[in-house]
Amino acid sequence: MSMKIPFFNNKQSVESMHYPEENTPEHIAIIMDGTGRWAEKRGMSRVYGHKEGVTTVINIVKAAVKFNVKVLTLYAFSTENWKRPNSEIEYIMGLPKKFLNMYLADLISNNVRIKVIGDMDHLPSSTRETVQYAIDRTENNEGLQLNFALNYGGKQEILNAMKEAIADINDAKLSLDQLDKQQFSRYLYTSGMTDPDLLIRTGGEKRLNNFLLWQLAYSEFWFTDVLWPDFSEREFIKALEEYKQRKRRFGGV
Ligand code: FPP
Repeated sequence: MSMKIPFFNNKQSVESMHYPEENTPEHIAIIMDGTGRWAEKRGMSRVYGHKEGVTTVINIVKAAVKFNVKVLTLYAFSTENWKRPNSEIEYIMGLPKKFLNMYLADLISNNVRIKVIGDMDHLPSSTRETVQYAIDRTENNEGLQLNFALNYGGKQEILNAMKEAIADINDAKLSLDQLDKQQFSRYLYTSGMTDPDLLIRTGGEKRLNNFLLWQLAYSEFWFTDVLWPDFSEREFIKALEEYKQRKRRFGGV
């Protein structure tokens, strides 16, 4: 593994910051927005912001491991992001490789399990092979479940799930009566995982962008104007602290 950086060597991390564990969200989903603007503000090309965004990814993964978060789902590339210029798409598609070259060994030693949610079949083959390798190498790990949403679209996910459920009904593997919310969830990419307790969106916009439409039905939302490359463990803790104050009623009183 080239450029191996010890997982917990970041000055800002482990030693200096503490966060009480009670009422930590089990599953946190993040829309990592503002990387392009971060670079443009500095007169640089947008991809420079995406590159900086990778450093934030590892810092937040470290924090999630430290705070015993069970599942962290990061929105890296949507089904709509193919509309971007080819050069930017190519750059983003190279990021998983950069990230895993630097950190896979440390992720493994920290018991992190990697998964991709999204349509992996239509990723460039080099991206697909790199992430598949990481998925296979970490499949027996039992620590943080780290989901990268890559070529992910919420409506497409629900549509695919519906088609698979119908196919199972047609094959008599499932009856129409059995198909309830819990059964349906098993056809989603997040099968077997609890729904996100908390959604964080950086970069100032306040919308879902087709992210986890089914799974976010009862999640708490937390927005910040901070652009993703500037998002830090300190900001992350702010979100967790505010989550602790929220009263989740799930439609009750
Ligand atoms: C949205 O910001 C962000 C992206 C499309 C992806 C950025 C990529 C990362 C943060 C790194 C992902 C890391 C791995 C390991 C896959 P934007 O480009 O829409 O920003 P803008 O709103 O400022 O234009």
